[in-house]
Amino acid sequence: MSTATPASVVPATETITIFDTTLRDGEQSPGCSMNIDEKLEVAQALVDLGVDVIEAGFPIASPGDFEAVRAIARKFGSRATICGLARSRVEDIERARDAIMEAERKRIHVFLATSAIHRQYKLKMAKEEIVKTAVEMVSFAKSFVNDIEFSPEDAARTELDFLCEVVEKVIDAGATTVNSPDTVGYATPQHYFHVIRTLKEKVPNISKAVISTHCHNDLGLAVANSLSAIEAGARQVECTINGLGERAGNAALEEIVMALRTRKDYYGVDSRIVTQKLCATSRLVSNITGMKVQRNKAIVGQNAFAHEAGIHQHGMLQERSTYEIMRPEDVGYVGTNLVLGKHSGRHAFRDRITSLGYTLDDEAFQKVFTDFIELADKKKDIYDSDIQALIENRQQQLSEIWKLNRFHTTAGTGTIPTATLEMQHEDGRVVTDAATGDGPINAVFWAMERVVGLAVKLEDFKVSSVSQGKDALGEVNVSIRDGNRIFHGHGLSTDIIEASAKAYLQALNKALATPR
Ligand code: KIV
Ligand code: ZN
Repeated sequence: MSTATPASVVPATETITIFDTTLRDGEQSPGCSMNIDEKLEVAQALVDLGVDVIEAGFPIASPGDFEAVRAIARKFGSRATICGLARSRVEDIERARDAIMEAERKRIHVFLATSAIHRQYKLKMAKEEIVKTAVEMVSFAKSFVNDIEFSPEDAARTELDFLCEVVEKVIDAGATTVNSPDTVGYATPQHYFHVIRTLKEKVPNISKAVISTHCHNDLGLAVANSLSAIEAGARQVECTINGLGERAGNAALEEIVMALRTRKDYYGVDSRIVTQKLCATSRLVSNITGMKVQRNKAIVGQNAFAHEAGIHQHGMLQERSTYEIMRPEDVGYVGTNLVLGKHSGRHAFRDRITSLGYTLDDEAFQKVFTDFIELADKKKDIYDSDIQALIENRQQQLSEIWKLNRFHTTAGTGTIPTATLEMQHEDGRVVTDAATGDGPINAVFWAMERVVGLAVKLEDFKVSSVSQGKDALGEVNVSIRDGNRIFHGHGLSTDIIEASAKAYLQALNKALATPR
């Protein structure tokens, strides 16, 4: 039996740098692209969460990426280090430099693949050329910014002696952080431990740089590998909210942070993350990208703290720590506690909002309270998760080019599903139109497209319930494609046709507002 001292009483000796790449590696995953307002919203949440470094994008990739990194650097560059990614090319580094320049705390992240497979097939470069290019590009980046990270892409599959050589030379050239990407998710915990330990023991100047970990989840080992790297001496961990990322994703920030916090007794390190904000940040990223979090996902899944087995419930009633290693409130988990109803007043509602950890100004409070009253008219019991959804829904409301004034649908066996709707443009024009479809939701979508004058493809459509009961609030997430651009929308209502209409309209408004 473990005799470890409870984590809460063991002081951590060192602080790990949390490098979040949700806006770069996460955003690269199919269907997860975000527009500039969405990226700013996520960046705000990351700053509030206490992330140390935000990799805000890959500035050379597109003008949109460049503008987003620049806006994030300008707005948040005094509260977190803002990082821009660059290949080992002059033009990439210059673009990254220009994008992050306005940040007080800034970093350029230069990468070049080092593994034999990448050298031979992708880069067609010999080892000497790799070293030379990496050194030149790190020195070039260093002429603009002091904080330089170098990533030997596919480090986990690179010959260890060559990896050590590259790392030593880029540190001499000025790299202050050296990453060890497991680009293809090939590593296993002991193997990765060995890679990091070797860097720590064999690279003579390693004490001049921070060793970083960057793990992909192809074998489901990204978090385990990252923790193993920390044990071996890595002091920066690269991760994303909800483990978002290409293919099977990156290491999940919330899992790493809570593993370190819960097992401070073992790792002896901690982070600066405000863990109480983990669930809200997870929901925000999920709503913005349309990437749903599985119910049993560690830390932030809907079931992460639900004890169903009688024997567990019994134990919990005697003493929570029998079956609970983390307190739900420590990660901002909001369950489905029955809290309020139609007759709960403004006071009770404000109290509940405060205890859920939100601070709303009077105007925002009034709007959410109005939504609450409206909801309480339709739904008998209001749960914490309903209140949370109402608040987040208001926080995510963007400026609207078109508004839905009202709509009506007919559907049923033997009838042609039809939608009639009235919409209003921001210039005051009111337009009425109707359409038929495969079902009432489909008919609403067709009618909306006719009104706004945009034909798009529905890529993804998900309905879920926020709390429980037949009258539960329905939450709809949609993704639409306009050419090669993807937009996400989120809608909330006890009526799923209305929630779908709101979600679709939000996505259409984003498409209309984003220049091609
Ligand atoms: O996975 C990877 O190798 C990367 C690098 C650019 C750091 O994302
Ligand atoms: Zn990556």
